[in-house]
Amino acid sequence: MGFFITFEGIEGCGKTTQIRNLADTLTAAGHTILLTREPGGCMIADKIRSILLDADNHEMQPLTELLLYAAARAQHLAEVVVPALESGSIVLCDRFSDATIAYQHYGRCIDRRTIDDLNRLACQSTRPDLTILIDCDVSTGLARAKSRIAAGSGPREERFELEEISFHQRVRNGYLDLAASEPHRFVTISADGSVAEISRTIAVQVLGRIKDGSRAVC
Ligand code: TMP
Repeated sequence: MGFFITFEGIEGCGKTTQIRNLADTLTAAGHTILLTREPGGCMIADKIRSILLDADNHEMQPLTELLLYAAARAQHLAEVVVPALESGSIVLCDRFSDATIAYQHYGRCIDRRTIDDLNRLACQSTRPDLTILIDCDVSTGLARAKSRIAAGSGPREERFELEEISFHQRVRNGYLDLAASEPHRFVTISADGSVAEISRTIAVQVLGRIKDGSRAVC
C-alpha cells in the first residue's frame, strides 16, 4: 500500500508551489509519486471542477456545491487515487476531504454531520496518512490569488476568490480547528517563511514519516 499525503490551506497560501517542490524532492529520492488535485484529477472530475469554480455560476446553492464536490471526489478516488495507492505510489493531492469541512461547513455553514456523511460515502475507507496545512493570513493569501487570476490566461476559476473576507477567515479558522483536533495527522506550517524554507520543512516532515511508515489511520 502506498502513502497518501494531502495539502490544504486557504486561497493563495502557496500550497500548489509547495506540492510541486515536494513532488520533485520525492522523485529525486527515488519514490514513485502521483501528483493530483481536487476538485479534478480525472476527466469527469475536471468537468465538475469547471462548473464548481466558474464565477458566472452565481445561482449555485450550497447543497448543490457540496454534492458536486462529493461526486468529483468519488470519481477521482475510484479512478486515480485508490489504484495509485494500491500500486504502492506516494499520492500527493492538492486539497481533499478536509477542504469540504473547511469550506462547506465552516465557510458555508452546512451542518457538520451532512458533510461527514458525504465525505464517508465519497472516500469509502481511504483517508490521508498525512495532511500538510499551510496557514496563511487571509488578506495576504487573497491578494496573491487575485493577482494570479488576473495574470492568467486560462478559465477564470474565481468563484471562491470573490467571496467576502469573513468567509475566508472562517475557512482559515476551520482548518486550524481541524489541525488541532487531529495533531498526529496534520502538520501545520506558517506561510510566512520563504518558499525554500517552507519546502525544506515539508521535505523533512514527509521523508521522516515515510521512513517510519507512520500512518495516521491504518
Ligand atoms: P484550488 O483553487 O486550490 O484548486 O481549489 C479550488 C477551490 O475549491 C478552492 O476555492 C477551495 C474549493 N473547495 C471547496 O470548497 N471544497 C472542497 O471540497 C474542495 C476540494 C475545494
